[in-house]
Amino acid sequence: MTDISSSRSPVPAKDLAVVILAAGKGTRMKSAMSKVMHSIAGVPMIKHIIGTAEQLNPKKIIVVLAPNMNDVEAVVAPHAVAIQKEQLGTGDALKAAVQTLGDFKGNILVLYGDVPLVSARSLNGLVAHHNSDDFGATVLAMVPPNPTGYGRIFQNPDGTLARIVEEKDATEDEKLVRMSNSGLMVLDGDNLADTLLKLQNTNNQGEYYLVDVPKIMGEEGRKSGVIRGDYAELRGVNNRAQLAELEMAWQHNKRMEMMDAGVTLLDPNTVYFAPDTKIGNDTVIGQNVVFGAGVTIDSGVEIRAFCHIEGATIKSGAVIGPFARLRPGSDIGVDAKIGNFVEIKNSKIGTGAKANHLGYIGDAELGAHSNFGCGAITVNYDGKVKSKTIIGENVMIGSNSSLIAPIKIADGAYVAAGSTLTHDVEADALVIARARQEVLPNKGKNRLKRDH
Ligand code: UD1
Ligand code: CA
Repeated sequence: MTDISSSRSPVPAKDLAVVILAAGKGTRMKSAMSKVMHSIAGVPMIKHIIGTAEQLNPKKIIVVLAPNMNDVEAVVAPHAVAIQKEQLGTGDALKAAVQTLGDFKGNILVLYGDVPLVSARSLNGLVAHHNSDDFGATVLAMVPPNPTGYGRIFQNPDGTLARIVEEKDATEDEKLVRMSNSGLMVLDGDNLADTLLKLQNTNNQGEYYLVDVPKIMGEEGRKSGVIRGDYAELRGVNNRAQLAELEMAWQHNKRMEMMDAGVTLLDPNTVYFAPDTKIGNDTVIGQNVVFGAGVTIDSGVEIRAFCHIEGATIKSGAVIGPFARLRPGSDIGVDAKIGNFVEIKNSKIGTGAKANHLGYIGDAELGAHSNFGCGAITVNYDGKVKSKTIIGENVMIGSNSSLIAPIKIADGAYVAAGSTLTHDVEADALVIARARQEVLPNKGKNRLKRDH
């Protein structure tokens, strides 16, 4: 069989529309949520596959949903949705999409919402193989380690597709075949609506099978193709264990991609990325680090062990962690240092500024070369509104200070440890805002119960 990596891509002769089937119930997920809304790398499966479909530059992308899947409809926007009223099978689902496509003439690529890891490269290979001959349909085959549950693929001596037999309709002999149907296929859109009308549900599942379309085309003298893809990309999600497997596969690929791009991962298997994580070369990531969405890190940054980082920008030379938490809107400047048990949210940390231990910086600016002492916090929320704390350059915020926002502390100011500040501080001032220490000689004696 032709392998997908050896397929040559002539310029696609026809327009392309992509149909993503996602109306299935996903019963085995045992979830109140639609199956395709479950996430891989923090992003719903359906968004992964839409992102891949978009890379093919199709004329149209249509997602087939069941009624009341409004949650999915919202994330697939602005792409069109076709509603399949009853889940009568994959062939019936395509029928709903073809109606929505109207008079589209061209190739139709059918993808599954629960097969999210397929690459644009493989799909381009599938379309190219379809266009290399006068095929009515071309199916993407795979060889899973265990083919149980998949449709089995049978080929003619010339390599074209003979038929696909669903597991539930297969004889014991047919079940021995390992070449399986990924479910993904390209179809010639001309006359497809008519072909779909000819589908019958006289099978062991009482469903209208998409896999019968090539068979009907064959009966009418139109041959179909098969091309083999990589099982690692083509496996689907039917239950939570498979969801976890795909998450691991996705993370593995991303780790390799990061290391390839010059990022050091001290223990790759313990670092988790989001699809949009961007990291410059010569950045070193320690063990057990989690990146949520929206992180951009320059070259030459050090992220030490056990950090949780999302929605953050980190400039070169910065050192983060261990045990730091950067929340959305954290903007960490060149050579800044953010140490253990420091949480930062919606704040800009200037060049060379430091917050080394135990603190909270929220809705704030910490100017260049300022030092935010151990245990200091910005008090940004009064129960109703969030307010800003602006700290200038070369400021010292003493340990265990509370800065009650809104507040400004100008350049060069020095805040004594343990201060609770409620008013702005002028440049270069020393401010002490705490009760004075009182010493009562001998009054401490015998106040503690002793048993020795
Ligand atoms: C299908 C293929 C099988 C292939 C397998 C690969 C058919 C008949 N069988 O089987 O050959 O090996 O995928 O995973 O096509 N869906 C709808 N509406 C429906 C039914 C399904 O939109 O009425 C969607 C599902 O949401 C899912 C996809 O179609 O995204 C596949 O449906 P599923 O029921 O999982 O098909 P399989 O029985 O696994
Ligand atoms: Ca399935």
